Amino acid sequence: PLASTGDLVARAAAARSAVAAFNVITLEHVEAVVAGAESVRTPVVLQVSENAVKYRYGRVLPLARAAVAAAEAAAVPVALHLDHVQSDGLLRQAPDAGFSSVMYDASRLPYAENLAATRAAADWAHSRGLWIEAELGEVGGKHGAPPLDAHAPGARTDPAEARAFVADSGVDALAVAVGSSHAMTTRTATLDHELLKRLAGTLDVPLVLHGSSGVPDGELTAAVAGGIAKVNVGTALNLAMTGAIREYLGARPEAADSRGYLTAGREAMVRTVAAITEVVAGTAS
Ligand code: G3H
Ligand code: ZN
Repeated sequence: PLASTGDLVARAAAARSAVAAFNVITLEHVEAVVAGAESVRTPVVLQVSENAVKYRYGRVLPLARAAVAAAEAAAVPVALHLDHVQSDGLLRQAPDAGFSSVMYDASRLPYAENLAATRAAADWAHSRGLWIEAELGEVGGKHGAPPLDAHAPGARTDPAEARAFVADSGVDALAVAVGSSHAMTTRTATLDHELLKRLAGTLDVPLVLHGSSGVPDGELTAAVAGGIAKVNVGTALNLAMTGAIREYLGARPEAADSRGYLTAGREAMVRTVAAITEVVAGTAS
């Protein structure tokens, strides 16, 4: 059934667990996230980023409607989240498109401007019943290849600043920079667990880990134990899908039906979703 992100995150945080949130781009991503979550009987978040909306010719509704339908038909609770929103126009489409939550990302701005923009977004989001996440201490790797936006695993969120930011903006959750970076294709990140502990001790909202594709299983488990309640994963699905499709087509140069390689890609994503969801929820055996 369709669930709300705020509920899933609150429930996970209360159990000292976390909910995995997967970025979806195609219908195959949506189906794979739901099937993977069902296979391990664990709730999950489907998230659509502003970049994914741009890829879909700037239209959020077609993919969002598909995600709502998939969530409603799912055997486990599935919530819809609009991710890394920078444009107010997209933010304002969130409720009607079926999202229960948004991540408003003004982290590229200096502190005062990030705070002002985030507070305005939070006021509007709450007036429409949306749960809102924001980011402080920009997690790198967001805007394509280096050197334009190099991975910045050294970016850090300052606990005192974060405390003021959460209090003054009114957001429901905070994405923190503790050593991960977006779009990593190897799981080689090491997290600053000391800082994470200080952030968790200082803040009374759930903490969110971005760029989790580059974080090894053991580091994810430790991050959840240290206070992370939502774990965002995107690149890992694309690696799985693209790798499987490359392998399928490499072995079948004569293939023509798109269902052949899309099935291979989707099944690879199902396995990735199941594995990461178990690690994040703490149910891996
Ligand atoms: O908000 C989305 C996540 O931070 C995805 O990051 O693609 O590096 O896993 P990732
Ligand atoms: Zn992110």
